[in-house]
Amino acid sequence: MRPRGLSLIEMVCAVFIVLLAVTYVMGMFLGGSHTHARAQDVSRMNTLAQSRMDILMGTDFKRLASASGTFSGADEKFSWKATVEPYKTDMKKITLTVTSPIGRTESLVGLRCPNLEDEGMRLYREYGCASCHAITKFDWARGVGGPTHDGIARTASTRISGMSAGEYLEQSVRDPSAYLVPGFEPGMAAISETDMSNAQLKAITKFMMTLR
Ligand code: HEC
Repeated sequence: MRPRGLSLIEMVCAVFIVLLAVTYVMGMFLGGSHTHARAQDVSRMNTLAQSRMDILMGTDFKRLASASGTFSGADEKFSWKATVEPYKTDMKKITLTVTSPIGRTESLVGLRCPNLEDEGMRLYREYGCASCHAITKFDWARGVGGPTHDGIARTASTRISGMSAGEYLEQSVRDPSAYLVPGFEPGMAAISETDMSNAQLKAITKFMMTLR
């Protein structure tokens, strides 16, 4: 006759297997939630880094060599640090590092001109605005098809009553069909925030505001 129940060796094996299973499941939960927290941390950091970079890309660097700080509100445990160094002849390289409460870091690099007017001019050329718009004093701006940008800063303030020149210029880029320049057909594609950040738009506008 076989003895009923489990032998000692079988019992030890069974307990061992159960322990192993419990450890595995707990590991899944603990490890899983940890991974989840880390993923949240990283995505939050990406968002914060991007928004801070946007601000830095739209700030004048005339006096700024480096900067650092913490974010406000619920994000104040995240800190950021930016260093600015010369890049090529007339550019600046910004390196931004965001550090999370658990010490993880996320870095972003951005290139731009030191002051906003120059950065705006660089973007104006990069975005091909000069292929349709002309500016007499710049030989690289001989575009045809769109209205001249000679004196656009002054013209802009007269276009829509109650709208400042800056507001009008920004609207002209985001939503060109909102106002049709007399004598012109709609011919300019709207440029959304996905294709041009608000900081970039601010810089381009600042450049156009120098065209008096
Ligand atoms: C494909 C040609 C084309 C390109 C490229 C283009 N534009 Fe235009 N733009 C036009 C035309 C045509 C108009 C006039 C029609 C209208 O009002 O929508 C216009 C109007 C404007 C106005 C209003 C001018 C005024 O006198 O009130 C501004 C400001 C402007 N564009 C800025 C820009 C900027 C900045 C860029 C580059 C990011 C750009 N445009 C790229 C064709 C273009």
